Amino acid sequence: MTTLTTETLAVPGQQQYEDVFPLVINLLTGGSTMDDVSAWLESTRAEHIEAAARHGAVLFRGFPVADANDFDRFIRGFGLDSFTYEESLSNAVRVNRTELVFTANEAPPDVSIYLHHEMAQTPLFPSHLFFCCERAPDVAGETPICRSDVLLDKLAEADPQFVDDCTRLGVRYSNTMPAEDDPESGQGRSWRSTLGADTREAAEARLDKLGYSREWLDDGSLRATTPVLPAVRTLVDGRRVFFNQLIAAFRGWKDARNDPQKAIRFGDDSPIPAEGMQRAIELADELSFDLAWQAGDVALIDNFLVMHGRRPYEGKRTVLASLVADDGSRLAA
Ligand code: FE2
Repeated sequence: MTTLTTETLAVPGQQQYEDVFPLVINLLTGGSTMDDVSAWLESTRAEHIEAAARHGAVLFRGFPVADANDFDRFIRGFGLDSFTYEESLSNAVRVNRTELVFTANEAPPDVSIYLHHEMAQTPLFPSHLFFCCERAPDVAGETPICRSDVLLDKLAEADPQFVDDCTRLGVRYSNTMPAEDDPESGQGRSWRSTLGADTREAAEARLDKLGYSREWLDDGSLRATTPVLPAVRTLVDGRRVFFNQLIAAFRGWKDARNDPQKAIRFGDDSPIPAEGMQRAIELADELSFDLAWQAGDVALIDNFLVMHGRRPYEGKRTVLASLVADDGSRLAA
């Protein structure tokens, strides 16, 4: 067994708040195996989780992670409970590669996936995400990440009324799910898969239990509207975050079934002003760090503190993902 040595690395575009964002941990030891990595994680995992809560994101570079099985082992080294795709209400079409690991999003290369907190448009969301680059694309395909606490502070300065309305009223999301998976869309997951339901009755029962309202459309698709969800949340350390799916819904919930204009409303059913959204988008774009993937990279993202997306790309890109179940310890009551 080889004991691993690491260093923290400065990378172009890295941001500096109270802590750097993201933190990059580079492996110095050559010739190490996944057994060595597992042993190293066992003794260091608590500090990585703690670092993610402070920095927002930790990138592990230079580790011997070659494929989905290695990534699966890497994640298991953290000893966290996983949040499975089956139980999630994610709208993205994904393919499982191992029990814990799935492809990040099957949407076509030219589709942008805009900044969001994973599954913040549903009442069930993971606390962390792991990403792993199995194959870096020829051109672009970065994962933009953005500190949501910093964004909220800047947005509150630029448009206090908008942030106040978001905080007071919350938000409802509407999404139309097809009867069958539509891989051409960034949110093309069928209602059967999303809701784990074989029949309309089972789909309705699941939605009722979650407090959604619903409408069946003539083509067999299902339009579902969430209960009122918070658009701003407070973490136990006092930081406030723009924890929602507003930017992604406003910019990107557009396909054969969905119109972004109809995707989001405040909790009292009043419209969300486009100017406020535009300001949020501009600030988030300015604050984004583009994670330029190298094969073997693993990133640990704190889902409460950091939004993520995907830039369009050319060539083949395989970024794998895995989600961690929320243990309820991060959100203030
Ligand atoms: Fe995502």
